[in-house]
Amino acid sequence: MNNFVFQNLTKLIFGKGQIAKLSEELPKGKKIMVTFGGGSVKNNGVYDQVVAALEGFDFVEFWGIEPNPKVETLRKAVEQCKREGVEFLLAVGGGSTLDGTKLIAAAAKIEADAWELVCNPKLYEGTLPFASVMTLPATGSEMNRGAVISNLATGEKYSFYNTYPVFSILDPEATFSLPKFQIACGLADTFVHVMEQYLTITDCSPLMDRWAEGVVQTIVEVAPKALAEQKEYDAMATFMLSATMGLNGFVAMGVPQDWATHMIGHEITALTGTTHGQTLVIVLPGVMNALREQKGGKIVQFGERVWGISEGSKDERIDKTIEATEQFFRSLGLATRLSELSIGEDVVSEIVNRFSERGTLLGENKNIDYRLVEEILRQRM
Ligand code: NZQ
Ligand code: ZN
Repeated sequence: MNNFVFQNLTKLIFGKGQIAKLSEELPKGKKIMVTFGGGSVKNNGVYDQVVAALEGFDFVEFWGIEPNPKVETLRKAVEQCKREGVEFLLAVGGGSTLDGTKLIAAAAKIEADAWELVCNPKLYEGTLPFASVMTLPATGSEMNRGAVISNLATGEKYSFYNTYPVFSILDPEATFSLPKFQIACGLADTFVHVMEQYLTITDCSPLMDRWAEGVVQTIVEVAPKALAEQKEYDAMATFMLSATMGLNGFVAMGVPQDWATHMIGHEITALTGTTHGQTLVIVLPGVMNALREQKGGKIVQFGERVWGISEGSKDERIDKTIEATEQFFRSLGLATRLSELSIGEDVVSEIVNRFSERGTLLGENKNIDYRLVEEILRQRM
């Protein structure tokens, strides 16, 4: 096991009716900005619950943080924060709303432009404190430091790191209004987050392995219930907590991490607008196959413990595990090939060019260069 430091600062407030707790958790006497996406919270009652809990607080609303939040939109909120002396931010919505808010909170503290901050973490000078009411289980953003920000003008999408949300409120009932496609993408995103922290080497941390396998097995078990017409509270609660646990540091202690699937997936989104979770299920089987030598031991362990594959040669077991993983993604109703989404040669070439120009090396061993990215993507056409 590698050395590690673990500290997660977010207070997690979970369950039915918990949005009302905002009145206890928000700082009294501070100017608050409440941030939203495109309006889903107005249709599912979340907005009304938030506004009721905010009675007596001094707050302004900022609407319109879009999926894959764009810096062009976030700049307007930064400007408003500075102009109106905002002291605390509350994101109400999915991962995009919260990610965007993480950048707003940090950019409000500096003179430089918000995109410069994304590209140059040295400009970071602290943050306005922020919290969330999360309505979409997927990103784990509610309990991590990460944010992924897009730039409409340049077609880029990069990660940015702030501090942790002060608190996050997760009411599984808020997820009942999610479209099936978003649920499928959220299940996929959670699955792949765990895989990025798991699918490296064997025998590094048996505890992290079991924990990671436990989250993935839970996602596999709960997926059909989460996707069923009639939403079950317990199923959505299990899914929601799994998403949080998948990317809040709990499965990452002392183990190497990969993240190649995400880095390649982000480029697909940046160039085509494809939803995040959908990109991941296309890429992951390609990464597993292209890295079958390096990751073989762990793929076999995963296949045995999660899919029950225990027969055949090592190569056969790796093939069966990749196939079972792709089958699971298809059972969510997602595409697993680029061609199914009419993504073709031009996009693949542009992604390969970008990795080549940036000289990026991906994966736990930093050995996935642009040539290997090309191999991965060509397998997924
Ligand atoms: O904008 P509104 O109207 O709220 O609608 C949203 C949006 O259209 C809708 N939605 C959210 N909650 C809903 C709902 N619709 C009905 N009922 C509800 N309860 O869902 C759509 C997608 O929302 P979005 O926030 O974009 O989805 P998600 O939470 O999957 O976030 C995706 C973004 O997170 C980044 C992705 O790259 C992408 O930009 N990621 C962030 C990470 C992090 N912060 O740690 C890690 C992830 O790997 C990921 O990269
Ligand atoms: Zn993700």
